[in-house]
Amino acid sequence: MPLVTSTEMFKKAYAGGYAIGAFNVNNMEIVQGITEACKEEKAPVILQVSKGARAYANHTYLVKLVEAAVIECPEIPIVLHLDHGPDFETCKSCIDGGFTSVMIDASSKPFEENIEITKKVVEYAHDHGVVVEAELGTLAGIEDDVNVAAHAASYTRPEEVEEFVAKTGCDSLAIAIGTSHGAYKFTPDQCTRNEKGILVPPPLRFDVLEEVSKRLPGFPIVLHGSSSVPQEYVKMVNTHGGKMPDAVGIPEEQLRQAATLSVCKINIDSDLRLTMTGTIREFFDEHPDKFDPREYLKPARANIKETVRHKLVNVLGCAGKA
Ligand code: G3H
Ligand code: 13P
Ligand code: ZN
Repeated sequence: MPLVTSTEMFKKAYAGGYAIGAFNVNNMEIVQGITEACKEEKAPVILQVSKGARAYANHTYLVKLVEAAVIECPEIPIVLHLDHGPDFETCKSCIDGGFTSVMIDASSKPFEENIEITKKVVEYAHDHGVVVEAELGTLAGIEDDVNVAAHAASYTRPEEVEEFVAKTGCDSLAIAIGTSHGAYKFTPDQCTRNEKGILVPPPLRFDVLEEVSKRLPGFPIVLHGSSSVPQEYVKMVNTHGGKMPDAVGIPEEQLRQAATLSVCKINIDSDLRLTMTGTIREFFDEHPDKFDPREYLKPARANIKETVRHKLVNVLGCAGKA
């Protein structure tokens, strides 16, 4: 089947109590690792491209890689989505250039300005059969060149969501309930430690999610910053020359819980980066004589596939839903 929008996916996910994985793609091995897992697990999937990914790999290469995945995986629905579109022009360029979904992220702007920019993108996108994700609230962490300190982050205000969705006409809404971008989602002093000394982050604000869902019945909610930062990969990085002290993510059981509620899209990038980097570091450490990129990219791709499979089956609940 050709690329699809997320409309049907989200309807089914909402009704079925699961979420679609939205994985960031930057090169061929990442596209292949993700889509091979989705194909085997019969899972619908959103492949998302950030402004940074377009700058790194080039729009055309990324679109063509995703189109190749569509040909290789005809039995699963695939969405091509712009992640954190910074302005109308970038969204327009992706809408004109073959994407089926875009995010306009004007969440750092004042409420009225966010509405105005989002509405403009929605009008253009809908005229071209493309759906739009918008955002209310600010996540902490790093995305592209924007670094939001924890103290500058703010939870979504549920009392704003109805007006925002009604005035913009957006198709899904990303909210801030305590997730955060990157591999260092919380500082050690924001966490407690369990009996093994592992950092335990503060719980997500399910009260905010529930209030938003009550005000927007049936409307798909998106969670950004939802990597779990698997400690086995942090350890792999650190035992093979890396330095990622106190990297910590969102506990998987909380994401699973969110997926059973109104959250229909869960964004994951850092866990794929960690998987790839840990695997390549280990390979280099164990095979200092090797220099053929295929030899280290092959296990990296295989491990990305297993990381994604684990998410589909155990976290998102979307395996078998294609
Ligand atoms: O939310 C940000 C994603 O992890 C993409 O990261 O902007 O470095 O490509 P990037
Ligand atoms: P992570 O950094 O938690 O993987 O979040 C990715 C994301 O939100 C992409 O938009
Ligand atoms: Zn994000």
